Amino acid sequence: MSTVVVPSIDEVIRRVVWDQECASWHENPVQEEVPDPLTFVIFGGTGDLAHRKLVPALYRLTTSRLTPKQFAIVGFGRSHQDNDEYRQGLHASLQDSEVQVQDATWDDFAGRIWYVQGQYDDEKSFTSLAGMLDRIDHDVGTQNHRLFDLATPPVLCLPIIENLRKAGLNHPTAKGGWVRLIMEKPFGQDLATARRLNHCVHDVFDESQVYRIDHYLGKETVQNIFVLRFINGIFEPIWNRNYVDHVQITVAESLGVERRGGYYEQAGATRDMMQSHLLQLLTLTAMEPPATFTSDKVRDEKVQVLDALRLASEHDPLRSIVRGQYGPGMADGRMLASYRAERGVAVDSRTETYVAAKFVVDNWRWAGVPFYLRTGKRLAKQVSEIAIHFRRAPHMLLPDGNTSQPRSNVLVLRIQPDEGLALRMEVKVPGPGMRVRPVNMSFTYEEAFGGMSPDAYQRLLLDAMRGDSTLFTRTDEVEAAWALVAPMLEEQQNSTADLATYAAGSWGPAEADALLQQDGQRWREP
Ligand code: BG6
Repeated sequence: MSTVVVPSIDEVIRRVVWDQECASWHENPVQEEVPDPLTFVIFGGTGDLAHRKLVPALYRLTTSRLTPKQFAIVGFGRSHQDNDEYRQGLHASLQDSEVQVQDATWDDFAGRIWYVQGQYDDEKSFTSLAGMLDRIDHDVGTQNHRLFDLATPPVLCLPIIENLRKAGLNHPTAKGGWVRLIMEKPFGQDLATARRLNHCVHDVFDESQVYRIDHYLGKETVQNIFVLRFINGIFEPIWNRNYVDHVQITVAESLGVERRGGYYEQAGATRDMMQSHLLQLLTLTAMEPPATFTSDKVRDEKVQVLDALRLASEHDPLRSIVRGQYGPGMADGRMLASYRAERGVAVDSRTETYVAAKFVVDNWRWAGVPFYLRTGKRLAKQVSEIAIHFRRAPHMLLPDGNTSQPRSNVLVLRIQPDEGLALRMEVKVPGPGMRVRPVNMSFTYEEAFGGMSPDAYQRLLLDAMRGDSTLFTRTDEVEAAWALVAPMLEEQQNSTADLATYAAGSWGPAEADALLQQDGQRWREP
């Protein structure tokens, strides 16, 4: 039988007014940025995501005074432990992380945390949870505001959603209340399963209550794409087919699949990265300015891009895709094992650890401009960037016999690491004659703002608490993105052709180079 651990009244009323100066991010949060009172419920409360991402983000938000005074966290999990054991586990994880934990702030934060032991498929566990949330509303003053985060394996999402409905937790139970649901990726395995999942979610929750996380949207440099494009006057006039030759989007990882071989075998780079993070970066790069910076207007414009997007080779989409898998290799003098030798991976696995694709956006702004996307594990370097390659000058004015070979201008939006911007341009080399050489005009977040940017989860959890869904993916976005990668998934499923291979620690398969060479281009080496 499942039991629910009820906190003592002493615990409920144990809250402290923060007197510590904020460590980072918002030195002085604006009052409007602080969400309403609320209870944050984490399903999968004892899991990896809760320990590594969610609770550290909530802790940092709290030390930055960006959570309300009336704030409670409830971890829901299957294992038996009491409140204190749960808090100690979270404390240990925080200390292992990059977060600087101070005793005074931890004590206050810990006093807001409770643990509920229950089963995800057991209605009674949810009835007990409902009782506990009512008590917290009463004692802490969280005003019937509840945010449920599904930090569980995907297979548990539907039973949880169904039990939330049965317990009447999918809608507010008191005047002025609200209920929101955070969903973590993956949102399905393909278009059909994503549709089914969305359908089940919509049976219980209204779309306006649902916050689907793509953590790339929480990265500062990704949000800066909006600012760069739509707050500055100089870029937008040249952000189109008349000036842009092509766009390259790279999300390269130097790590392999680590301990996630089992998951990755089912996913591969297309599901894990291309369908979500890379297509999100593309939509932000290609979208039209929204009429207002509000969630639906922004997401409408992103969906317009996805609707106009297609693999470049219309009649034979496979010619626009390269899927590869890493073999053994070397990096920093270290031998690296092949993907097939990783734990949890089949020795004859056909899962791709690399995917590159050439897309085009069929609309007036982008007609004829290729968007080359690539992502992979065990590549030469960890780097994520968007590179806008501009057209060359129409006529080269260098004197006859000049051996300089001017290259086109490239604007690089560096997502990570060394977050910032760089504009490559040609300059004259000092001295006689007219030799030219490329240089970068650059800006880095580090130099301009110092310190580290907040973790993406901080931003996203804060926005969900505040009810701003601009940086979350909507049903139609998710489904359009699945539709776009369908040919890649079909190939993964049906093709018997050998996958392209690449050495671990390299820049990917030669076939991906050929994808650009046929257009007279080549991948940047970031
Ligand atoms: C996740 C993928 O969504 O993103 C991982 O499941 C990947 O496989 C990770 O490593 C990359 O995120 P980041 O923020 O480290 O670039």
